[in-house]
Amino acid sequence: MTIITAFCSSGTGKTTLLSHLAYYCALQDIETVLIELDNRNSLGTCCGLPESDFSTSNIFNPKFSGNYKLLPLWEENLKGKARVCQAKREELLATEQFLSSQPLGILRLKQVLQKYPLPQPLILLDSPGQEGIMSSSAILASDYVILSIEPTPKAMNDAIRFVEILLNYEEQYGIEVPQILGIVVGLYNHDISMARSIIEQLPEIADKINTQLFSPIRYSSEFLNSYEVGLPLNVFRPGHEGVKDFYIDGNIFKSMSQKRLRGLNRNHLENLPAIASYIVNLVKQENA
Ligand SMILES: Nc1ncnc2c1ncn2[C@@H]1O[C@H](COP(=O)(O)OP(=O)(O)OP(=O)(O)O)[C@@H](O)[C@H]1O
Ligand SMILES: [Mg+2]
Repeated sequence: MTIITAFCSSGTGKTTLLSHLAYYCALQDIETVLIELDNRNSLGTCCGLPESDFSTSNIFNPKFSGNYKLLPLWEENLKGKARVCQAKREELLATEQFLSSQPLGILRLKQVLQKYPLPQPLILLDSPGQEGIMSSSAILASDYVILSIEPTPKAMNDAIRFVEILLNYEEQYGIEVPQILGIVVGLYNHDISMARSIIEQLPEIADKINTQLFSPIRYSSEFLNSYEVGLPLNVFRPGHEGVKDFYIDGNIFKSMSQKRLRGLNRNHLENLPAIASYIVNLVKQENA
């Protein structure tokens, strides 16, 4: 079981990223579970989920005994190879309060997933962007964290600060903290000079924090539209170039003319690894 979460700042496209990862991994025959740890229930919207009796709070319940009642995700396309557990706002708020009152409440998710492992090889934890009991629970329960950032200077600082958060956890809880899998820039618009400049600077920052830069996910209003109707872009607009940003290395840069690249290093950019293909290989290796 490989557990991955995405973190950094709010609104950087984490839920979009994780739901599309679940879609792609399931299509590649990697059974995947997506668990929502966000009390705003954005997963319900972006995955078009129906109401369910079982929600994330049940997993944290002291009486939980491993009976995960998960819903299929985009069943028509994925045939049950991806499943989800969504949060219910009021219940998750109560769970957050309960966990905050417990001395080691922050480690509860890690302990439950260890005690009652899921049969699926890949677990994706969708947590809120800001620091809090749920994002900390997700980070501490994970093997890997993807730093999901917007192409802004603030996000770069957040990425560096995240390393401090990890070191702090290590010191405070004396447990092994997750490895930073890499940095994914979401909402990338190559026509904005700030975005291009951030993409140029990020490899150095990635190096500094001992990780790598993945290929960015482009900004497209079609991501927004597909989110609102509860479908992955793959189904909403099959053939849309944005879909390939997840699984073709350096995809967004591949079709760019030299003029449009505006002096950026083509060779480097075209070889940035695509996040979804990278994770498929990782999970295959770890579960071989
Ligand atoms: N590549 C993209 N292009 C355009 N819009 C996007 C893209 N990715 C996400 N969005 C939109 O941005 C908004 C925030 O995305 P999302 O919910 O995935 O971010 P998040 O990081 O999970 O946010 P939060 O921190 O609030 O949980 C949504 O409306 C989504 O449709
Ligand atoms: Mg989210």
